[in-house]
Amino acid sequence: MMEKLIFATNNQHKVDEIRYVLGNTFDIITLKDAGIDIDIPEPHDTLEANASEKSFTIYKLTNNNCFSEDTGLEVDILNGEPGVKSARYAGENRDFAANIDKLLSNMKGLTNRTAHFKTVISILLNGKETQFIGICEGIIINERKGSNGFGYDAVFVPNGSEKTFAQMDMEEKNEFSHRKKAMVKLIAFLHNT
Ligand code: IMP
Repeated sequence: MMEKLIFATNNQHKVDEIRYVLGNTFDIITLKDAGIDIDIPEPHDTLEANASEKSFTIYKLTNNNCFSEDTGLEVDILNGEPGVKSARYAGENRDFAANIDKLLSNMKGLTNRTAHFKTVISILLNGKETQFIGICEGIIINERKGSNGFGYDAVFVPNGSEKTFAQMDMEEKNEFSHRKKAMVKLIAFLHNT
């Protein structure tokens, strides 16, 4: 029987990416599928603490094995910003377009454009937490390119490619992706437990 895992997110893009990586090995239940309609709090100042907050919140509600992930874009010249604030960089309404506008404006004229995405996955199995990290290094370009994906994809070019994530299909993005790297570690862990 396929193991059921609740994925503590309301972001359909993340669900699609993670289902793509997991294939048929695990049965991923979204919050929507589980009938849970809450905006999970992300009150902490690290990705690690927010990932824990999300998985523990859903575990307490459902008593079901579950995992969450928290991702941030960390730009070196901006001292790691937007980082943990990536979703709300330009304000509380989590507007992807406004977030990119703010980032490009803060980096206008800067030549050091190195950055990375960092994903932290928190999984709770029978109440015990384990975390996995995935990092993708790259650069922030000056203008948007491409229309796939979400968030900052249109301005991020991973090292080893000339394309932004938004110019890639899911398979190509997964050759580089922070989320994929963290998921590979999670899958290995699940297969060994
Ligand atoms: P959170 O992990 O849901 O808090 O989201 C953090 C924010 O980071 C999202 O709202 C996106 O703006 C951005 N983000 C997370 N993952 C990606 C990605 O794979 N590509 C581009 N932006 C991302």
